[in-house]
Amino acid sequence: MRSGLEALFSPATHEALVALRRDLHQHPELSFAETRTAAALEAALAALQPVTLQRIAGTGVVARIRGTTPGAPVVAVRGDIDALPIHEATGLAFASVNAGVMHACGHDMHAAWAVGAAHLLAERPAAGDVLVVLQPAEETGEGAAAVLASGALDDVAAIFGAHVDRRFIVGQVVAQAGPLAASADTFEIVITGRGAHGARPHESDDPVVCAAAIITALQTIVARRVNPATPAVVTVATVHAGTALNVIPGHATLGGTLRAVDPDTRALLATEVRRLAEGIASAHGLTAAVTLVLGPPPIVNPERPAAWARQAVESVLGADAVVPLGITNMAGEDFAHYMERIPGCFMRIGARMPNEPVIPAHTPQFDASEGSLFVGAAVLAEVARVASAELKRG
Ligand code: NI
Repeated sequence: MRSGLEALFSPATHEALVALRRDLHQHPELSFAETRTAAALEAALAALQPVTLQRIAGTGVVARIRGTTPGAPVVAVRGDIDALPIHEATGLAFASVNAGVMHACGHDMHAAWAVGAAHLLAERPAAGDVLVVLQPAEETGEGAAAVLASGALDDVAAIFGAHVDRRFIVGQVVAQAGPLAASADTFEIVITGRGAHGARPHESDDPVVCAAAIITALQTIVARRVNPATPAVVTVATVHAGTALNVIPGHATLGGTLRAVDPDTRALLATEVRRLAEGIASAHGLTAAVTLVLGPPPIVNPERPAAWARQAVESVLGADAVVPLGITNMAGEDFAHYMERIPGCFMRIGARMPNEPVIPAHTPQFDASEGSLFVGAAVLAEVARVASAELKRG
């Protein structure tokens, strides 16, 4: 049976969107390699009128849907399109045919709901033009910056996006002001010592023991340096050293990720990682070279666009649909790069049926429930209309 929400879509559109999403899911592609995906999305959008298509950032696609009022402010809605290097184990009939590659973060759904929003906006346009942005390479944190660098969003006055979330059931949406995603910076620590025979440790400056001390010390940053009322994460995710069981290596390399939801904590994490790594290496008579790569900043939704998003959710799904985020989300999201330049709001869209388990994203079992496709499409189309009308009003 089709819900009231799904009835916004003609039976043919409904069928086409489900088929598109399943096709994208079955043929996942990694960041900046989304060639088949981009072609499928272009084909799906080309049928809409009036719409102009533009290829950007290699495998990105932007559809411009004409508004009712020439010169009215332009709004963008964004869906990301890339997959992850994970081997799928959902058992779905449309599971990945690309071994080791999987839509384990629901970007197949995000792409399909962006196309769905384009359908709705072509049928009932916003005041101004709406750009539907199908963005590559979210998982590597590079895609949004590439889209911005293309200049395609230079005339955009507000931007909206969303992520599937199986903590919430289909029909629930998080649309609120404040922190929605964390910064996602990465670090690498190269510890340089002096190798030796494994039986003669006194002739070495052992980088393995030093690495162990650094790993342990890094745990004190969140425990002892960060205000306990402020969420933060320091994760050492990679440890590489050595080639043989009887050889002390000359180098050890650690890598990991830093997460925070405010600029001060973000800066503190980076400073402390560097201070501890260099200081402990020095205490051991070795050196540590710390490289920090800044990823997306935190997403902190401003009040006004968040109010528009909330209004859109309420008008499409009713007041009960808006739910609080609850637990701070420490995942990163490169939508933050847009929000450094363009005001907007990022939402979380419920993607689990009430009888289904909460399965985390980035796991081989992850699948966003199909109903979230129509929620995402309807909410993004409506928030584009609301924002466009409000911006036009000034
Ligand atoms: Ni994602």
